[in-house]
Amino acid sequence: MASNGGEPWRVLVTRSFPEAGLLLLREEPNLEVVIPDEPDASDAMPYDKMKKMLAEAPGYDALLCFLTDKIDAELLDSAGSRLKTVSTMSVGYNHMDVAACTDRKLSLGHTPDVLTNTVADFILGVLIATCRRIPAGVKVVKDDVWGKWAPLYMCGRDVHHATVGIMGLGRIGMAVAKRLAGFDCEILYSDAFRMDERAATVGATYVEFDDLLARSDIVIPLCPLTAETTGLFDATAFGKMKKTAVLVNCSRGEIVNQDALYDALKNGTIWAAGLDVTVPEPLPASDKLVGLENCMIVPHMASATVACREDMARIAARNVIAAHRGEKLPHAVPGTSK
Ligand code: DGY
Repeated sequence: MASNGGEPWRVLVTRSFPEAGLLLLREEPNLEVVIPDEPDASDAMPYDKMKKMLAEAPGYDALLCFLTDKIDAELLDSAGSRLKTVSTMSVGYNHMDVAACTDRKLSLGHTPDVLTNTVADFILGVLIATCRRIPAGVKVVKDDVWGKWAPLYMCGRDVHHATVGIMGLGRIGMAVAKRLAGFDCEILYSDAFRMDERAATVGATYVEFDDLLARSDIVIPLCPLTAETTGLFDATAFGKMKKTAVLVNCSRGEIVNQDALYDALKNGTIWAAGLDVTVPEPLPASDKLVGLENCMIVPHMASATVACREDMARIAARNVIAAHRGEKLPHAVPGTSK
């Protein structure tokens, strides 16, 4: 057990948290859970409130946060030296300043693996819906403007036998490739590292990024958001893609330059886009992308199944519990050692 002078460990959970994870935290002896009351808890805790709560005596040993929370040096400083661990209920950790956490010797947890298949299923859903124009079909029925059958009415693009380019062949990229193999797709991938053996298990072939853009009918960014990948899909990238190409982004909104995407969709530089992530989130309905018929946008819901979110909550809780017990986190953020 991590020493705390006999005092219970205090965990700040920044918003409503699935019962499955809460139960684990509450079962852990000598752990006190502080969580905002409903209805406030259904919204992200404002940054200033989080800072204020962390600064208040007696302080917190652990912070359990979400991708809606910005965890930066200023916030960590407000928590002071009592804080020992930060656990996010998300696989992505771009909302956390990892260097600021490690500088302060904090252990850092996230929730990989459990969402891989759930997210991959959803990516296939967005991909098929976008290629086959399912939202446009739903809209004409709801709007009572279902046109008469005609040879080219509601025609989209085939998914089967398409060439699909995956930028970032991590866990989710592999799971997507595996599913697409069932559609007889040709799978290309690009990544900072070549991983030929791993890629061969899903029939994916390595190509340079420009080649991936030029050859793919469907392009799926699945790389983490970093300084290098911010704005990776810009006007230059869209200019290299096929006019018939479909972009499917379920990673992070910042990877795509949205002004450039708007122009590319409007001018026919590419054919369509399906987005689960945008900047900002939520994206207002007045945003110019929302008004495009060839852009399907859904509200960051790729991991949103009850089972998946409960599993993520359990992992986020177990990371905190491991830190409390003085153990290695079962799911530490890569590159952080504890
Ligand atoms: C994550 O966990 O990072 C995902 O974006 C959730 O859908």
